[in-house]
Amino acid sequence: MKDKSNLKRGVIYETILSTYNPDNTPNCAPIGIKYLGDGRVQARIYKGSQTLNNILFRKCAVANITSDPILFYVTALKTRKPPPVKYCKAEHVDAPRIRAADGYIELELMDSRRGLDYTTLNFKIKATYPDHGIPNIYCRASHGLVEAAIHATRIKMLLANNKVREA
Ligand SMILES: Cc1cc2nc3c(=O)[nH]c(=O)nc-3n(C[C@H](O)[C@H](O)[C@H](O)COP(=O)(O)O)c2cc1C
Repeated sequence: MKDKSNLKRGVIYETILSTYNPDNTPNCAPIGIKYLGDGRVQARIYKGSQTLNNILFRKCAVANITSDPILFYVTALKTRKPPPVKYCKAEHVDAPRIRAADGYIELELMDSRRGLDYTTLNFKIKATYPDHGIPNIYCRASHGLVEAAIHATRIKMLLANNKVREA
């Protein structure tokens, strides 16, 4: 069931987490966040990530909501082409927001658990924008279902044409 922020409990959403580096410059990277319900989200971030270091230092982040694939690409691979990402300040946490995003979830770190390869971080949602509900959050499960449906129809067609081996 979705709550008023438009998030569904147990679902992993692909967002771009923005944080401040120790020298106050902004940093961002795509990171999946899982909605736990009751205004809480969880992220698993791999060792060596600047985002992880920044969150452990400042205890907060902004999850930027976008369905722009270029923004995911640019921020994951740290490419400066197309032009660099533009930022503004978040309202309730000490972290930047990506100006071009469609929505924001401002997050405060509650606790963290360090594993062998990644750290599990639990956050409290401080604010969401727009506050009447976040629009179109990228979720791999929805796109996976469309891909699976395409694949299934191909198999169906091959079987109808007696191409059992290919199916
Ligand atoms: C759609 C997408 C989702 C990602 N999700 C995660 C994630 O949940 N945890 C993680 O550690 N890395 C994830 N990554 C990889 C990081 O974004 C990538 O390693 C990035 O360069 C880390 O940058 P940073 O050092 O500034 O934190 C994801 C990448 C993409 C494209």
